[in-house]
Amino acid sequence: MKIMQIVGTRPNFIKVAPIIQKLVDRGIDHVFVHTGQHFDENMSKVFFKDLDLPEPDVYLGAGSKSGVQQIANIMLGLEPIIISEKPDLVIVVGDVNSTLAAALCASKTGTPVAHVEAGYRSSDLSMPEEINRIVVDHIAQILFAPTEDAVENLKKEGVEERRIFFVGNIMAETLIKFKDKANESRILNKLKLSPKTYALATIHRAENVDNSERLESIMSALAESPIPVILPLHPRTKKQLDKAFISERSKARVRIISPLGYLDFMKLQSNARLVLTDSGGIQEEALLLSVPCITLRYNTERIITVELGANRLVGAEKELILEAVDEILLGDREIINTPPFWDNKVAHRVVNAVLENRSLLEVVPYRVS
Ligand code: UD1
Ligand code: UDP
Repeated sequence: MKIMQIVGTRPNFIKVAPIIQKLVDRGIDHVFVHTGQHFDENMSKVFFKDLDLPEPDVYLGAGSKSGVQQIANIMLGLEPIIISEKPDLVIVVGDVNSTLAAALCASKTGTPVAHVEAGYRSSDLSMPEEINRIVVDHIAQILFAPTEDAVENLKKEGVEERRIFFVGNIMAETLIKFKDKANESRILNKLKLSPKTYALATIHRAENVDNSERLESIMSALAESPIPVILPLHPRTKKQLDKAFISERSKARVRIISPLGYLDFMKLQSNARLVLTDSGGIQEEALLLSVPCITLRYNTERIITVELGANRLVGAEKELILEAVDEILLGDREIINTPPFWDNKVAHRVVNAVLENRSLLEVVPYRVS
């Protein structure tokens, strides 16, 4: 069996690491494709180094223009690769444009698709990622769900139950695997920070960043936080901060640094007093690291993190963000339980399910040759 894995963004690299390792360990023929959606050294290459990822066999260099151009470029670049490589299965992870483009391209060339992180739903169709999730889940032949609520979402949408596998959260496996290595990071010394004395923030979601009012509101909340805030700045946010009118005072009071590699970021996250984020993956990691999380969004597809009391949806209003920070600093929000299967066997379940359910790959109507 030949498996093609297609990645393109920071969270994709993190999710795919344990699966690639498992394919290598099992001696399964595989092709690794990087679309080039993320391309800066600290958004791409550093993860290959930190996570021991092999060099991609193919780099498409698609870059990030408009969503349409990005998806179209990836599909145009991928089509001849899929046709010549003839994989038996394409595995995609997460919910980014590279995930959608790869799944669509596989489907249009008659190649079966497996989706890791299937079934998450925010029910917010204004989010580009929500459209990506829905489309990919309805193209895929095999769906790997991270949580029981994700399984239920898929069933409600009419996905055949035999195609759904509850395997757990692949990001948890990466975190468990690299925790010791991350512990060795010198980032706290480098930034002169002591454990549990600072908050860690990330913002990059289009609805927060591309709306200057919301960005200003979030930035001024971070600036007025009672404990120092470290903000490794996503390139999308950097562009908007340069353009939008954000008061110099707000910018100066937040400690803005470049995006970090996985190991440094993990060390900074696990030692933070709290995190403020609009990231999907960080909501999950904060739960696993028992670091209280404030989510700068009005909804989440990571519902389990809220249900377990590890995460609070606060949105983008300054006063509400500051109230939530105070609440964490004053209280002792107990973080309960790890969700089932958020462990170090997720890739094992994924690869086993693929090998044991080859009949699910036989439904493709035609194959382009
Ligand atoms: C994308 C995903 C988002 C995910 C995020 C992870 C989509 C629709 N969005 O958002 O779901 O949470 O990745 O970080 O796929 N840029 C650089 N250098 C880079 C990468 C991006 O300068 O290495 C710039 C691009 O030129 C562009 C902007 O950042 O102007 C946005 O990049 P893009 O990949 O379109 O979306 P993200 O905001 O990164
Ligand atoms: N991350 C990182 N360096 C940073 C910021 C985030 O390594 O400077 C990691 C983080 O630990 C998590 C992942 O990137 O594993 C989340 O990616 P991101 O927030 O970009 O995307 P999302 O999860 O929202 O799709």
